[in-house]
Amino acid sequence: MKILFVCTGNICRSPLAEGILRSKLKKNHNTAEVDSCGFESFHIGDAPDARAQAIAKKHGIDISAHQARLFTIKDFDRFDQIYIMDVSHYQRVMHLSRNVNDRQKIDFIMNQAFPGSNLNVQDPWYSDISAFEKVYQQLELACEIIASRLKEKPGKT
Ligand code: 4NP
Repeated sequence: MKILFVCTGNICRSPLAEGILRSKLKKNHNTAEVDSCGFESFHIGDAPDARAQAIAKKHGIDISAHQARLFTIKDFDRFDQIYIMDVSHYQRVMHLSRNVNDRQKIDFIMNQAFPGSNLNVQDPWYSDISAFEKVYQQLELACEIIASRLKEKPGKT
């Protein structure tokens, strides 16, 4: 199973989701692959935002090695599930999708915890560290469900 998280800058929300899920999979000895990317080019090649790194570190997760990259059409072929953070990413990924198979891979990450809710994980970039803690807690909840589903049925999410 190959899972991709998508946000805007790929320096806050999606690298946090990637780090959280990666850490859970490691604990479960699960070999599923995880990656993250974004849509805006401002931070390509950059490490995650210092606040995102600090929140991850507080919870025992090191996300410092990630380098921001852009979403590409090839990601539809490389990944089985594409989890987006908010409705803007949903619209952009859907717009780039080529067929039903691509579209079936796309979902709001918070739908894993609250099916059908289409809840956004709000952009924390313009906020203070408390917004990053809220993002962390939301992503932790969703990633716990993704990881436990992968544990029960390694072939599915
Ligand atoms: P992210 O947050 O999408 O969670 O990585 C953002 C980071 C940077 C910007 C926007 C959102 N930016 O406009 O530079």
